[in-house]
Amino acid sequence: MIPAFCDWLSNTPFSMAIQNAFWVIPTVQSVHILAIATVMASVVMLDFRLLGVTGRGQTIPEMAERFLPWVWGAVAVLAASGSILIIGEPGRELLSQVFWAKMTLLACALTLTGVFQYVLYNSNKFWERRKVVARATAVVSLLLWCSILAAGRWIAYMAHG
Ligand code: HEM
Repeated sequence: MIPAFCDWLSNTPFSMAIQNAFWVIPTVQSVHILAIATVMASVVMLDFRLLGVTGRGQTIPEMAERFLPWVWGAVAVLAASGSILIIGEPGRELLSQVFWAKMTLLACALTLTGVFQYVLYNSNKFWERRKVVARATAVVSLLLWCSILAAGRWIAYMAHG
């Protein structure tokens, strides 16, 4: 079913336009990479604050207010640019197990970020008081985002498998 969908998608006018314009994939990849830099920088700032390593001059709610919008904004850009890459080369992405591993990890990372934000809005002091929970959350978050990054790069080397 997925191979048939890929066949159909790659023959649509939009996909063919992407395939036939040599500059589209490299340009969209560059946008994807800029958004990766943004999301990773913001996640590291926030998680290092939860670990108590950096930014101790600011409270966790202040840091969250500063960096969470960048995380969500960059994820929106990643979803848009990633979708164009998929439409341009459907088989390369949708038939790759590494691609689906990346999407699963991303779903976990976004759920964790959403829960973090939800808890913060419901109890402003939660993450300051529960230091062990905060540190564990930061470690899991960093592992998830680094795994997504590695999986994204790895797709190119594990195509169709
Ligand atoms: C819904 C969100 C996303 C979608 C749909 C998506 C999709 C894609 C696709 C289709 C590729 C091309 C892979 C290839 O053919 O080699 C790619 C590359 C990549 N992605 Fe994503 N991605 C998303 C989010 C992310 C996030 C959140 C990260 C990391 C924080 C990330 C990191 C990467 C990396 C490192 C590459 C390789 C770039 C390169 O070597 O040019 N992606 N992504």
